[in-house]
Amino acid sequence: MEKFAFILHPINYQDLTEKYSWAKYLPSSMVLEYIKRKKPFIASHIKGIKSAFSGEEIEGFFIACPLLTQQMMNLPLPFVYDKIIESGKLAQEAGAKIVGLGAFTSVVGDGGITIKKHLNIDVTTGNSYTVSSAIEGTYEALKLLEVEAKEATLAVVGATGSIGKATALLMAPSFKKTYLVGRNTDKTNSLKSYFQDKNLEIISTTSIMEGVKEADAIITVSSAVGEVIHPEMLKPGSVVCDVARPRDVSPKVAKVRNDVLVIEGGVIEVPGNPSFNFNFGFPPGLAYACMSETMILTLEKRYDSFSLGKDLDTDKVIEINGLAQKHGFKLAGFRCFEKVLSSRDIYKIKENALKNKRR
Ligand SMILES: NC(=O)c1ccc[n+]([C@@H]2O[C@H](COP(=O)([O-])OP(=O)(O)OC[C@H]3O[C@@H](n4cnc5c(N)ncnc54)[C@H](OP(=O)(O)O)[C@@H]3O)[C@@H](O)[C@H]2O)c1
Repeated sequence: MEKFAFILHPINYQDLTEKYSWAKYLPSSMVLEYIKRKKPFIASHIKGIKSAFSGEEIEGFFIACPLLTQQMMNLPLPFVYDKIIESGKLAQEAGAKIVGLGAFTSVVGDGGITIKKHLNIDVTTGNSYTVSSAIEGTYEALKLLEVEAKEATLAVVGATGSIGKATALLMAPSFKKTYLVGRNTDKTNSLKSYFQDKNLEIISTTSIMEGVKEADAIITVSSAVGEVIHPEMLKPGSVVCDVARPRDVSPKVAKVRNDVLVIEGGVIEVPGNPSFNFNFGFPPGLAYACMSETMILTLEKRYDSFSLGKDLDTDKVIEINGLAQKHGFKLAGFRCFEKVLSSRDIYKIKENALKNKRR
C-alpha cells in the first residue's frame, strides 16, 4: 500500500494543555522549554482512505513536530528547520513516499524548499488544494447569498503570501473590484502590477480595515499569530473565508455579527472510510485541504513536490482540483468556528444582512 505522512504542530497553547493536562499546572515558560526540547514523534496511523476512481486504498501517518506557532516564528530558523527535517525523516523511516507540511511548517522560511533538500522523499505544502478549495467555498457561499462576483468587491488579506497571491490571481478577474491587502507596500504594489494590463479595478493597501470594509467577499489568509479581522470591520452580507491557522477572524464576529457569513476555508470530505486516529477538531472523515493534497498526490502516485516554495503555480491549483474530483475529495459543506452551518443558518444571515443594509 502506498504511504504518505503529514506534519502537524500545536497551533496554540490550548492545543498543548489539551494534549498534556499537566501543562495547566506549570509556568508557561517551563512548558514551552519542554516542547522545544521534545523530539518529533508519530502521532497517529491513518487508515481507510480509498480512491473513488480506482478503489485503491492508501495509509499514512500524522507526525507531530513539537513547536507552537509562536515558537516557529520566534526561534532561530535553523533550529525550526532542524525540527521539521527531523519530522520529515520520521515520515521517511515509516515508509512514506511523500510528506505534507501542515500549518506553520510550510509558512516558516522558504515554503518547504530547504526541507525537501534534506529528505529523500517528496514534499508538498498542500497550498494548491488549499487555494482551490477556498475559492470554491467562497463562490458557493456567495451564490447562497445571491451575490454576483462581477458586481461585487473582493478582498484578499495576506495577498502577498503563498496562498493569498495565487488566490488573488485566480479570483480578481471575476470581480468588479479587488483589494490586495498586505503589510508591505512594495510587495502589495508589486502584486498589483501583475494586473496592470487587465483593465481591472485593483487597489493595494496595507490597511486591513480599508481593504475589507466594503468587501462582499473576503479571503483571509495571513500568517499573523493573532486575530486581524474584527466585527466592526465588516459590511452586512459579506462572506469571510478564513483559511489561516491560527485563525484570522475573531470569534466575536460569529457572536455579534448575525449578518456576516464566516466560513472555514479548506475543509474537505475524504473518500473511503478514513480513520485519522487524531483529533484536529473535525468530525470523522473530514480533513484540511493541505492534508488532502498529500493524500490526493499519493493516490495519483504523483511524487514530484507538487506545491513547493512561496510562489504557487496557478495551473497546479486548477490541476489539483481536477485530481481531487477524480479521486472523490470534495468540499465538506460550511463550518464556522467548528460549528456546521445549515442552509437555515445561511438563510437567516441573508435576511439579517438585508435588514441591516436597509437601515
Ligand atoms: N486551512 C488550511 O488547510 C491551510 C493550509 C495551509 C496553510 N494554512 C494557513 O494559511 C496561512 C498563510 O499561509 P501561507 O503559506 O500563505 O503564508 P505566507 O506565505 O507566509 O503568507 C502570509 C501572508 O500574511 C501576511 N502577514 C503576515 N503576518 C501578518 C500580520 N501580522 N498582519 C497582516 N498580515 C500578515 C504576509 O505578509 P508579508 O508578505 O509582508 O510577509 C503574507 O501576505 C497560515 O496561517 C497557514 O497556517 C491553512
